[in-house]
Amino acid sequence: MATTFQHRPVLLAPTIDALAVPAAGGGRGVWVDATFGRGGHARALLARLGAGDRLVAFDKDPQAVAAATELAAADPRLAIVHAGFGSMRDALAELGIGQVNGIMMDLGISSPQIDDAARGFSFMRDGPLDMRMDTTRGETAAQWLARASIDEMREVIARYGEERFAFQIAKAIAAGREKRPLETTGQLAELVAGAVRTREKGQHPATRTFQAVRIHVNQELEELPHALAAALELLAPGGRLAVISFHSLEDRIVKQFIAAAARPGAETARLPLRESERPQPVLTAVGRVLPSEDEVAGNPRARSAVLRVAERTGVPLPAAGGLAFVKGEAPAVARRGAARRRVPRSFAAAFA
Ligand SMILES: C[S@@+](CC[C@H](N)C(=O)[O-])C[C@H]1O[C@@H](n2cnc3c(N)ncnc32)[C@H](O)[C@@H]1O
Repeated sequence: MATTFQHRPVLLAPTIDALAVPAAGGGRGVWVDATFGRGGHARALLARLGAGDRLVAFDKDPQAVAAATELAAADPRLAIVHAGFGSMRDALAELGIGQVNGIMMDLGISSPQIDDAARGFSFMRDGPLDMRMDTTRGETAAQWLARASIDEMREVIARYGEERFAFQIAKAIAAGREKRPLETTGQLAELVAGAVRTREKGQHPATRTFQAVRIHVNQELEELPHALAAALELLAPGGRLAVISFHSLEDRIVKQFIAAAARPGAETARLPLRESERPQPVLTAVGRVLPSEDEVAGNPRARSAVLRVAERTGVPLPAAGGLAFVKGEAPAVARRGAARRRVPRSFAAAFA
């Protein structure tokens, strides 16, 4: 049974408008929601799609998958895959899908994940220091913080939290765990608050550290470039990609990816090539949308949201594939284990 925590979708109308291109798919199109959450965007997209269209959703979180499974029972156009969106291409191939009409990604964590203290994402609510989106596998934040060296912690907190005081915080965590195992979000928030002298106005001193540890535990920036590259390969000509980011690190990856795919000739501009020999754009940047003041007033989570939309051109991808376009920063910290996925057989049969 899914939890009763609610999620209010961010930038809902512009995202759906960007994706639900009339006539796309010719009545038998396929769309992807890479981050189902509680299905706010998925429901709105399904409402716009036709009876013969399909929506394949992904989420790492078993509670999100449970919510999607309930919705799929009522709407057979929806299928849910319990997997990281980095494995989108393989998972869709297993469903017999090689091309799609639109892909949306609403990055980061959902309100139910933050609001449920038991998930360990929040410094506002004391709970076990977990922070995994996928609670069925992988190392928790507590397990990582128990074994990480000061240098590793400093690197993660500085890079993924863009935290000036990363070294002081890493040292405080190491000293704190010597005295008592670090097991709760409250303990971590307290250690950070004790180590950080200044704070940004209105922000808890542990905000950046919690963001950093969460990004590390879930390999968030590591998976995003793979998903973008897969999206490029999957989109049919005219197909749309819509990505909502919530912090500058992920938005930078999305922005640079779209820019590189939309202007692939930039790097060869000085080479003596004929126009026909220059790489041609495989994406067109459609635009960037920010939430309105009204949306932010009604939903503070929307405050930092940025939606970027791009459209696949008809130009075939170069042999090197989509990853050649990724210019995002390579993830710094090595991780254990790879995510497995579960593809629903009945849906696979429907596409066979
Ligand atoms: C911001 S919420 C999406 C909310 C959703 N659009 C809605 O309207 O309910 C992000 C969701 O994506 C999931 N998620 C984040 N990164 C993921 C990844 N790499 N692969 C699969 N799911 C991911 C999270 O577990 C979370 O449920």
